[in-house]
Parts: sequence; C-alpha cells; structure tokens
Amino acid sequence: MKNIFVIFFVILSAHANTTFADNGQLLASQCYQCHGPNGHSKGEIDSIAGKSASDLYGDLLEMKQKPKIEIMHLQAKSYTDNELREIANYLSTLN
Ligand code: HEC
Repeated sequence: MKNIFVIFFVILSAHANTTFADNGQLLASQCYQCHGPNGHSKGEIDSIAGKSASDLYGDLLEMKQKPKIEIMHLQAKSYTDNELREIANYLSTLN
C-alpha cells in the first residue's frame, strides 16, 4: 500500500518539473502575433526573445499595474503574476 503513495508522489513530482517550462512556452505563444515568431519581431514592435527574465517580468508587472501602453496592459492583466514569470522565464531562454 505504501508503494502506491510513493509511485503517486514520483509521478506528481515528475509532472511538476515539466509543467514549468511547458506552461511558459504555451503562454508565450500568444505574444508572437505582435512580437513576431518566437518573439523575434520583423516590424515596428520590439522583439521580446532573449531578454533577461527579470527585465521582462518587471516590464510585464509594470504594464499590468500601470497602463502606460494600453495594448500591453490588456495583454498583461490577462495573466496571473506567476504566469507572467513563466512567460518571462521562457522568453529569456530564446535566442
Ligand atoms: C496585440 C499586440 C500585442 C500582443 C499580443 C502582445 N504585445 Fe507586447 N507590446 C505590443 C506593443 C504595441 C508594445 C509597445 C510598442 C513597442 O514596445 O514597440 C508592446 C510592448 C511590450 C514590451 C515592452 C517592450 C519594451 O522594450 O518597452 C514587452 C516586454 C512586451 N510587449 C511583452 C509581451 C508579452 C510577453 C506578450 C505576451 C503575453 C505580449 N507582449 C503580447 C503589442 C503586443
């Protein structure tokens, strides 16, 4: 009986390890319609790939709280702070 709980725990922790990167990747894909494929912009709007995670997270939190760029306020407020961190962490890994 004890083994069942051990197996359950192992499955749960394996799942927790994979969701972090996967979730950021999934959530960030929504940003590409304006910021370019994989965050590499080919137009006027800034690229967001490969910036530092803390800069991106800071920018996103600021845009969520103070709507200086209205369009990004609407984007940023659709996510929890934790989701914004996951997006920032994922984008920072792109080159
Ligand atoms: C509907 C279009 C649109 C979408 C979708 C969008 N953005 Fe933006 N974003 C903009 C515009 C417009 C600006 C301001 C103009 C600029 O920075 O060139 C901006 C600015 C930013 C900035 C500030 C850039 C800087 O250097 O000042 C960051 C960071 C950013 N967006 C990240 C994101 C992330 C992350 C997502 C996905 C959650 C996202 N954006 C989704 C249009 C969009």
